[in-house]
Amino acid sequence: MRWGPVLLIAAVAGFVIFLVTVPDWSLPRAGTQLGSRASSMIQFAAGPAEDRLNRPPPEIPPWAQDIRPASTAFKNVKVLSDVNAGEFMRLQKAMTQWVSPKQGCGFCHVSGDYASDAKPEKRAARLMLTMTRHINSAWPDHVGAGGVTCYSCHRGQPVPDQVWYWHPPVPVHPMIDEQEDYHEKAVTVRKFFPDEGFEEYLLERTSGLGQSQTPLPSGQAVSQIEVKRLYEVMMQMSDGIGVNCGFCHNSRAFFDWRQSTPQRWTGFSGIQMTRNINRDYLVPLAAISPLTRQGPGDAAPQVGNALANCATCHQGAPKPLGGANLLKTFPELKGPDPHVAASGPVSPPGRS
Ligand code: HEC
Ligand code: HEC
Ligand code: HEC
Ligand code: HEC
Repeated sequence: MRWGPVLLIAAVAGFVIFLVTVPDWSLPRAGTQLGSRASSMIQFAAGPAEDRLNRPPPEIPPWAQDIRPASTAFKNVKVLSDVNAGEFMRLQKAMTQWVSPKQGCGFCHVSGDYASDAKPEKRAARLMLTMTRHINSAWPDHVGAGGVTCYSCHRGQPVPDQVWYWHPPVPVHPMIDEQEDYHEKAVTVRKFFPDEGFEEYLLERTSGLGQSQTPLPSGQAVSQIEVKRLYEVMMQMSDGIGVNCGFCHNSRAFFDWRQSTPQRWTGFSGIQMTRNINRDYLVPLAAISPLTRQGPGDAAPQVGNALANCATCHQGAPKPLGGANLLKTFPELKGPDPHVAASGPVSPPGRS
């Protein structure tokens, strides 16, 4: 037996398999310089995958004209009482398309009795209506005049795609080190990190002052684990809105607000708004529909329902849904929520 030709054929076959199976590492195409030259504030244009997620939702045609107030036309209207009955029904159709197109009206309603509150999904949707109205009226600095609708997060499914779960603390391994809940099946480094940073920044009120001002750790304002969490969250935020650090910071002085872009302020209000959404709406949602899920491939069970982060709305784009003006066609989704004290942006505790 001559091994030479066999080895040659095996090598060629191996090389062809390598070419076919190895992913396409092509880099993002266009880069744009934001800051002054050599400041490394470069942004890359989003790829075609993000563009697909970035299209505005399908239009919802008007319902039959009915100008009676919904509160008199229907029996059990608690949030949308100021909306006219025709527009109310158009919104019902829209909510069905945005949240439960496969399940239909029956996802929230028991058949034959639209006024009944028996289904937890309907009670959840009512809380969601107050939340959406609150986001659009209390956070115009962040969501702009275009605002958000159910579709901004749900994208045609009952549980939004881009979410995170609060995990119970993972037991400390006696021999090695503290076990971290890494996303081991992540395809990018930024998605690999655990969700603990979300807990600290998007649920608890952790201050984001992490950068040391001195060469030695003695000058450090916070512990090393806090610094680690801060950097993890910064990476996850950047990933969620599809940008690099230089979109908000000048990387030679991350702490300095004077050398930061205006987008850092928008990011700052995003952190506070997401905290508001999680604390005041999505955590309380668990009382309406208690859930414990086993996450895909994650070691720890997930407690309660899903929570929001930047990616829930942004889905990897700096302007969700291409910056579409969603409130123009659904102005009733903006309004005060009487149950929650209006919380608006506060000034960052940043240093100069
Ligand atoms: C995602 C949940 C959800 C879906 C899907 C949904 N609804 Fe509703 N519906 C609600 C909520 C919440 C209310 C109460 C609103 C309020 O209190 O302001 C409501 C109220 C109603 C009412 C008023 C009932 C009354 O007498 O008080 C009608 C009628 C109605 N929906 C019809 C529909 C129809 C028709 C569809 C399908 C095209 C539909 N809904 C799909 C959540 C939903
Ligand atoms: C900021 C993002 C966001 C917006 C805006 C939003 N939702 Fe949700 N919604 C969520 C998250 C996150 C959950 C939790 C999902 C889970 O784990 O069950 C949820 C849960 C729900 C559920 C319960 C689903 C289930 O099976 O547990 C319903 C119903 C719902 N939303 C309807 C709506 C409606 C109707 C609107 C618009 C009026 C809306 N949502 C707006 C993020 C959002
Ligand atoms: C969307 C805007 C945005 C992006 C993108 C962003 N950051 Fe931040 N960063 C902020 C905001 C806002 C704060 C202040 C948070 C606070 O005070 O609660 C901050 C704070 C920081 C701090 C702490 C500064 C101090 O005063 O100690 C560091 C360090 C940091 N970011 C690093 C990064 C890194 C590294 C990246 C890229 C992986 C990044 N950031 C991407 C908005 C952003
Ligand atoms: C409830 C949905 C929602 C969530 C959650 C959210 N955003 Fe936004 N964000 C928006 C919308 C909508 C806009 C577009 C506003 C406009 O068009 O003026 C926006 C705009 C921005 C911009 C400005 C982009 C630009 O091109 O100027 C930044 C930066 C940003 N968000 C950062 C964040 C960060 C960081 C988080 C998480 C900490 C976050 N957002 C969470 C809805 C959201």
